Amino acid sequence: MIDFCGLRLAHPIINGSGTFDAIAARRAFGDALLEAFPFSAFVSKTITLAPRAGNPPPRLWEAPAGMINSIGLPNRGLDGYLEHDLPQLARLPVPLVTNVMGSTETEVARLVEAVDARDEVAAIELNVSCPNVETGLDIGADPASLGSLVRAVRRLTRKPLIVKLTPNTADVAAVAAAAEEAGADAVSLINTLRAMALDPASGTPWLGGRTGGLSGPAIRSVALAQVAAVALRVSVPVVGMGGVANGIHAKDLISVGAVLVAVGTESFRDPCAGARIARELKSLQIAGSGSSNVNVAEPQPEVDLNCGNSS
Ligand code: FUM
Repeated sequence: MIDFCGLRLAHPIINGSGTFDAIAARRAFGDALLEAFPFSAFVSKTITLAPRAGNPPPRLWEAPAGMINSIGLPNRGLDGYLEHDLPQLARLPVPLVTNVMGSTETEVARLVEAVDARDEVAAIELNVSCPNVETGLDIGADPASLGSLVRAVRRLTRKPLIVKLTPNTADVAAVAAAAEEAGADAVSLINTLRAMALDPASGTPWLGGRTGGLSGPAIRSVALAQVAAVALRVSVPVVGMGGVANGIHAKDLISVGAVLVAVGTESFRDPCAGARIARELKSLQIAGSGSSNVNVAEPQPEVDLNCGNSS
């Protein structure tokens, strides 16, 4: 068991916000999903105060060793989340972290207050790092603005407050330190790196939102450097993520200071990835303490969620 801001988690592997649709997965896999939930806590897709349709298509571009997304935070809005999504997410067998983002301090405050009032929510993650909408990124890139936002919402909740940081800033450790000083209980990083792809035929931006966020193996070494820098600078727990596809990657982030590791892009390729990575990590940790029972080369899903069965 891991103690993360007072939450008792079965293992260190969680999902990155917006990379695993637990409601759709429950529809697809039925109760097997609940019996073999891949993560030790579930982080919701970002919710905003008003519903959002998201960015115009195309929204994805496959890059070498990764992908660029320009999804644009589509969501039902706060009321839709509380009425439709929360009751379903509350049935998951792990603590629920609700991720919120607003364009102004007032908006974020309303979101935090509303989510704080719900017992089903174990912790709140503040998204100040989405590169695909006009607001959010700027606050997250500047220590002073972020500090002021976190200070304003800190007093509105006693639930653990996690601040999700952007890698698109000159000094991520300074931003993390500002979040800690303002009262954040934990920080999570990295979100995606701002990126662009051109349509080979027209030479114009491929993505409907013009730019997007790069994720996947391509950003793993950036994540490692930034998580290491932040973990050296702050005392609060760090959730590390960025291109994690197996237990070795998770172990690397933990060895530079992460307490939890989030899986993102790899879950698009393999919805069972979280469980596999948790199992591989455990083997590596046992091996590190003396045993030699390590297998990260040929992962076997711990429980069969019928992945890949088309019948
Ligand atoms: O565009 C998106 O929905 C992504 C959000 C994020 O990177 O935080």
